[in-house]
Amino acid sequence: MTRIVHVNGDELAEDQAKVSVFDRGFLMADGVYEVTSVLGGKLVDFPGHLARLGRSLGALKIANPHTDEEWLAIHRRMVESNGIDEGLVYLQVTRGNPGDRDFAWVEGVAPTVVLFTQSKPGLADSPQARDGIRVIMLPDLRWRRRDIKTVQLLAPSLAKMEAKAQGADDAWLIEEGVITEGTSNNAWIVKDGRIVTRGLSTDILHGITRAAVMRLAAEAQMTVEERGFTPEEARAADEAFVTSASAFVMPVVEIDGARLGDGRPGPVARRLREIYLEDARASAL
Ligand code: PDD
Repeated sequence: MTRIVHVNGDELAEDQAKVSVFDRGFLMADGVYEVTSVLGGKLVDFPGHLARLGRSLGALKIANPHTDEEWLAIHRRMVESNGIDEGLVYLQVTRGNPGDRDFAWVEGVAPTVVLFTQSKPGLADSPQARDGIRVIMLPDLRWRRRDIKTVQLLAPSLAKMEAKAQGADDAWLIEEGVITEGTSNNAWIVKDGRIVTRGLSTDILHGITRAAVMRLAAEAQMTVEERGFTPEEARAADEAFVTSASAFVMPVVEIDGARLGDGRPGPVARRLREIYLEDARASAL
């Protein structure tokens, strides 16, 4: 089945979907994105993703090209046209094509809108979640506005490749001796029953999954501390996990080559994954 891609209001076969070489998304990484997971053909945490899209666009002074209702309809059409049961919808909005390259942008150019889907059967019941993942620590080389979900992803891509080269699955990024987040997820540890994750600021992406897990942990009477933690603390933790729209709650079983606990996903991470998935399915649109 040919994948159907959305480009500026048109739904096209993927080999017909085209964007100009002068698009500022291509030349300058001048654009933002969202990734929404799909479970049972429905969009997970969708209002949160739309709200963050609005904030990212606002921070870059790109006009939001659609209303919330229009975004929902476009997403639903993508899910339907591509027959997605479990997977992801990727959305990107760039500052558009001014017709030439210049650092200064031209006001009033229409943003470019692209959406595509990724079918991922077994996303919720993933073998990786049963076994857990291994992470290493690397320096955080990204710019200082990580709260804006921009498409400039070279630093995290390089970190991910370095992690793989070292036999791990992912990297946690360190700045000034403290972990900021994973390459494409928020980082959490558990010690003596207390759950720790970095507080919100411009240093990290304000994860939509993170927000849901914070709420669900509080409802389950679990204690969450929002503060930075060091690599030493992480290596000495009882458990660790990451959160993101594509991984949900993913247990971490090894940090810098050292096993956490018995090397199996811990009870807190397993419980939070279960509660999260249940809530995600129930509230999906
Ligand atoms: N990444 N931190 C970073 C740097 C991220 O790229 C992501 C998401 C997150 C988690 O945010 P959320 O829970 O809203 O997905 C945190 C997406 C999934 C990606 O780039 O594919």
